[in-house]
Amino acid sequence: MIILDGKKTANDIKEEIALEVTSIVSSGGKVPHLSAILVGTDGASETYVNAKVKACEKVGFKSTLIRLSEDVSQEDLLAEVEKINKNSDIDGLIVQLPLPSHVDEMKVTEAIDPEKDVDGFHPSNIGRMVLNLPTYLPATPAGILELLKRYNVETSGKHCVVIGRSHIVGSPMSILMGRNTNPGNCTVTLTHSRTKNLQEITKTADILIVALGRVEFITSDMLKDGVCIIDVGITRVKSDKTKSGWKLLGDVDFENVKHMCSFITPVPGGVGPMTIAMLLKNTLLSSKK
Ligand code: GUN
Repeated sequence: MIILDGKKTANDIKEEIALEVTSIVSSGGKVPHLSAILVGTDGASETYVNAKVKACEKVGFKSTLIRLSEDVSQEDLLAEVEKINKNSDIDGLIVQLPLPSHVDEMKVTEAIDPEKDVDGFHPSNIGRMVLNLPTYLPATPAGILELLKRYNVETSGKHCVVIGRSHIVGSPMSILMGRNTNPGNCTVTLTHSRTKNLQEITKTADILIVALGRVEFITSDMLKDGVCIIDVGITRVKSDKTKSGWKLLGDVDFENVKHMCSFITPVPGGVGPMTIAMLLKNTLLSSKK
């Protein structure tokens, strides 16, 4: 069993990016600049956005964090997006999701200039992804592809089962794994809350990508020997064994399934750090354009 070490791989990628930034800046080029909009004070969103800002500093990017109150109007939020679209110093813009229920998330996503959409969520970038045209790939799926690539996980001809059909992970992941690329060329099954006989399907998976948000949902009786598991779930649960009083758990019962796996991502330290590394990569790409 090989652990797909997202923390180490993400650090390698960040070092590669930092070197490139140094070289760009020393030859008089532009410092990449990422802007993030955070609406409200949701704990998880705060943590993610702070980690993104910190990662920018680490690789030598500029970053701007715009905090808006929970009750910001859709109009004011769209005006903020438009301001950033027009600011030629800013290369990438992310609006941290989820947004409060009075805001139409898709309207906001569509308002972001596709050239600055380093999350890869804009419908035109999703379309380009489906058609295998150059674009910004959504960061979490891109991070998973990068892990599979750097660990030389064979994907061609394999049965890839994806659990969860979110716009951010499951749905794009199912498309990417089926494309004629490496990694890719899988036979893909996308499963979701209405899927019948999930266990019958997961038992035939060579690669299992779980993005469900249900703690330790995947157990050993759902798996085939030699499976490669990518666990996207990350849930904070109370713990009396840690100093903080919390611990992070994935969607997979790691300790009880690892003996069956060819490869597996841990939680934390698997997919999470890769998401941030790929966001930085997209921002660098935008800046170089
Ligand atoms: N919420 C959860 N994941 C993401 C992400 O990758 N980007 C944004 N903008 N919001 C998120």
